[in-house]
Amino acid sequence: MYIVGNWKMHKTAKEAALYIEAILPQIKGAAAQVYLAVPFTAIAATQNSSIKIGAQNMSDALQGAFTGEISALMLKEAGASFCLIGHSERRHLFGEGDELILRKVKTALTQGILPILCIGEKEGEEMEEVLEKQLKGLSGTDGLMVAYEPVWAIGTGKSAEIDHIQKAHRFCRKFLGKKVPILYGGSVSLENVAEIGAMEDVDGVLVGGASLNPDSFAKMIHQLRKRK
Ligand code: PGA
Repeated sequence: MYIVGNWKMHKTAKEAALYIEAILPQIKGAAAQVYLAVPFTAIAATQNSSIKIGAQNMSDALQGAFTGEISALMLKEAGASFCLIGHSERRHLFGEGDELILRKVKTALTQGILPILCIGEKEGEEMEEVLEKQLKGLSGTDGLMVAYEPVWAIGTGKSAEIDHIQKAHRFCRKFLGKKVPILYGGSVSLENVAEIGAMEDVDGVLVGGASLNPDSFAKMIHQLRKRK
């Protein structure tokens, strides 16, 4: 099982280092593999031996005249082993489209950064149709993770219903095969993480807001059990 925290634009490097110091003793012996997607400036400050550290976005290009962008090589050198790609906020607030996102996934794969591709439909959209479009070009690819996050469940305190999650994950599984871990995200909390994590075809969770506090995030981590 995987649990990935996404800090979004929160925590300076100093605050991030204090968080790591606080959480490490609390997650000893946890069954889940813990990942944290931190701001670029906190990647170096959060290096440690038990939590994998990654970024929240990267360029599809390797280098060049792209003011304000960051490359896979820069992230790797700073200590990132994975990168969220196509998060709903990148798609909807910053206008990233499916083609650009697919190029970013491919760049990450060739540059040795594990891509965690985020997908999900908006309120009122047909789920399978949207997921099919967002996964286009990836059938048969492995070496990545996918996070299913319905847009209306992100940051709202209203996670998707169990049936809906099950249906979406089954669809992704059919498309991607057995080797690609599929995570659920969207208002995952201490209250619902055990139930969601125990579902068939859910290989882990992506947690935004509830990952910001080290004490409660540590408690969530311990709610996840090893898959039998
Ligand atoms: P949330 O965010 O857990 O705060 O809903 C999830 C995400 O944006 O990945």
